[in-house]
Amino acid sequence: MLAVMSNKDVAVLILAAGKGTRLKSSLAKVLHHAGGRPLVDHVVRACVPLHLKKIISVVGHQAEQVAAALEPFGVTTVLQQPQNGTGHAMLVSKRAIGNAKYVVVLPGDAPLIRTETLRALTQKHKSANAAATILTAVLADPSGYGRILRKSGDAVAAIIEESQLAPDQRELNEINSSIYCFTCAKLWPALAQVRPNNKHREIYLTDAVSILNAKGETVLAEIAADPREALGCNTRADLAGVDRTFREWKREQLMRDGVSILLPETVLIDPDVTAGEDTILEPGVQLLGKTRIGRRCTVRTGSILRDATLGDDVVIEAHSIVDSSRLDSEVTIGPFARIRPESHLHKGARVGNFVEIKKSTVGEGSKVPHLSYIGDAKIGTKSNIGAGTITCNYDGFAKHPTTIGNRVFVGSDSVLVAPVKLGDGAYIAAGSTITENVPADALGIARGRQATKPGWASKKRRELAGNSSHATKKTKRKKRR
Ligand code: UD1
Ligand code: CA
Repeated sequence: MLAVMSNKDVAVLILAAGKGTRLKSSLAKVLHHAGGRPLVDHVVRACVPLHLKKIISVVGHQAEQVAAALEPFGVTTVLQQPQNGTGHAMLVSKRAIGNAKYVVVLPGDAPLIRTETLRALTQKHKSANAAATILTAVLADPSGYGRILRKSGDAVAAIIEESQLAPDQRELNEINSSIYCFTCAKLWPALAQVRPNNKHREIYLTDAVSILNAKGETVLAEIAADPREALGCNTRADLAGVDRTFREWKREQLMRDGVSILLPETVLIDPDVTAGEDTILEPGVQLLGKTRIGRRCTVRTGSILRDATLGDDVVIEAHSIVDSSRLDSEVTIGPFARIRPESHLHKGARVGNFVEIKKSTVGEGSKVPHLSYIGDAKIGTKSNIGAGTITCNYDGFAKHPTTIGNRVFVGSDSVLVAPVKLGDGAYIAAGSTITENVPADALGIARGRQATKPGWASKKRRELAGNSSHATKKTKRKKRR
């Protein structure tokens, strides 16, 4: 195996100053999301493992926001104002690139690039002692991209932008990814000769390639093993296409880790999500943010989990939502359950259909099986909350807590007006409106007494029947006349 070369003589320059006019957006292009992250975020993450001398980014449009997105990665930013083209962006960054021997250039809008590909590109460039090495791809539809004009073998004569293609060059289907490795000592003099000879009056980095070639320098092309790594995002359709690829790669990774996914193309998973062996994801599931799922869980169709933490053997029945909450092992929720932020369902707890839980704890083995709202509540272990129980946690001014102990039985359709406490083993009669604390093992009952009137119904029916036969006789008589 080849010894991995050090990259301490390589600076990276990410081009991220452009507006992205073709996206028709107020947001800078490189901040648009694909695969669950801003485009430029993916690009930096691909570079970091290469242990480079320096990562630099040119920023311009929405410079502050773009710089803020890059800051956590320790990227040096250079302001390009105005944005006079990719070659101009390089010139503006010359001082920041400094005495690095090589510079790897990446566009901020091509997020599918992988570390291994960049490593191979720089190694090829260094060992061939080239002036420039271009990452290229062969595409079925090359429209919109600059095309590679080959000389012989690996060597490149020029990059021709789409707008400058001669009629016989339209057939060229090898494209410029805009990812390059340059030897700085060769690049700078060539770039100094580039003129803004296009309709946008911009300095194109691509023009430096034909100048290098004319000087007799070595310009090489490295074809990307997976052509998708070269894809840029100029339009919303490009963004959607790139997003699809990211999602596909993420699903493949989870499947390799032992997760079953049914109709995988319908399942959307963010990059930081993890899931354990033998977990099953049904069609139409979304796993978002930092969701972590244990082993042998089932997430059924239509469910959305965001920043959720699930233990082992958890079942999320169809069409349930979990947001920023923890579900311990053997918990079952849904169908149609909604778990809102800061909730914690302990081992074996069960939350059934049409139940909303907000900022609440449900203790081990406790059940809230049907049609309830539980907010700002603490429920102990092995308690049963009957159908339709509501915690009235809000009085129009402030939120108040409800505390329910262990082995409490709350009858159906009860209203618990907070702040209120139900002691261990307490019993709440169905249909009660509880406004006062109920001590341990007591019965709380708060509802109107039932009155039963024998024979009332049949008497009523006779009365009503008498009235109506009277009415029909009258109408019949009218008709006969
Ligand atoms: C560029 C290449 C094209 C290649 C394609 C690959 C040029 C002239 N053309 O075209 O050969 O096939 O990428 O996706 O280089 N940027 C700046 N400052 C500027 C202009 C652009 O930072 O003044 C940044 C943009 O933010 C973007 C990147 O450079 O991230 C590429 O610019 P873009 O306008 O998207 O170039 P393309 O037309 O796609
Ligand atoms: Ca582009």
